[in-house]
Amino acid sequence: MSQIITNKAHLEETLHPYRQQGVSIGFVPTMGALHAGHASLMYAAKQETSLLVLSIFVNPRQFNDALDFETYPRTLSEDIACATTEGVDVIYLPQYDELFLEDSPASKVTLNGLDLPMEGSARPGHFRGVVEVVYALFKHVNPSKAYFGQKDFQQLAIIRAMVNSLNLPVSIVSCPTLREADGLAMSSRNLRLSTSERQEALVLYKALSFVKDHWRLLAPEVLMEQAKQLITESALRLDYLLLVDPNTLLPIDNNAQSAVVCVAAYCGEVRLIDNMLLSAD
Ligand code: PAF
Repeated sequence: MSQIITNKAHLEETLHPYRQQGVSIGFVPTMGALHAGHASLMYAAKQETSLLVLSIFVNPRQFNDALDFETYPRTLSEDIACATTEGVDVIYLPQYDELFLEDSPASKVTLNGLDLPMEGSARPGHFRGVVEVVYALFKHVNPSKAYFGQKDFQQLAIIRAMVNSLNLPVSIVSCPTLREADGLAMSSRNLRLSTSERQEALVLYKALSFVKDHWRLLAPEVLMEQAKQLITESALRLDYLLLVDPNTLLPIDNNAQSAVVCVAAYCGEVRLIDNMLLSAD
């Protein structure tokens, strides 16, 4: 079984001898409710590093809606079983008070405006909460490599910006989004969908695929209008569907070589996000 550690001193004492021997530490930070998408991050980390640490912490600071925080799925015993099966060496369940220190550089680090559009404008304070917790976790675990899913595309760009800005000695590895057989992106939030909502949520994949298949064939305004229509005609409440530059997250011009199409929508009470990378070839 994976070793479970619940405080910073014990984590440091456990990892110190490995660090002394130059063992590479892989790290997968999560909020639990583990699914096959997380398993793919653990798998990638196992391939590339020698000791695997997984953290589980539902971070209140990244929820701008108290109900969303309260209803976020918590499945600790299943998570421990999953991590054990995936060969995780250490499961870290950190304490709030040890994570959030008053003078953390993460609370001031500049994020180059990457935190302003999309999730940033829909969920004020969300990304500041994410960088604060990820910074603190990096300081506790001190990993060689940390693994994140491409599904949270904006989060990934922001974490890279934070790592560059603060010059942190960790490589950020991006892993492809895992999808259910019918295309729905795997997410812990899917656990909160009813059977009918689960079906309706598929329209997000349809809209993103429509954009991917027709990019370059239709004028951008027509393309996005038609894709939006797929969602607005469904039971979902569209928040945004945007075509942006993968590096700056700013709207792209017509000659862009690559783009990412990002979507967020409410399916019942559940906010879902997804994205697809598009390239010129
Ligand atoms: O992607 C997530 O699950 C969370 O945002 C993260 C990175 C674990 C920070 O709480």
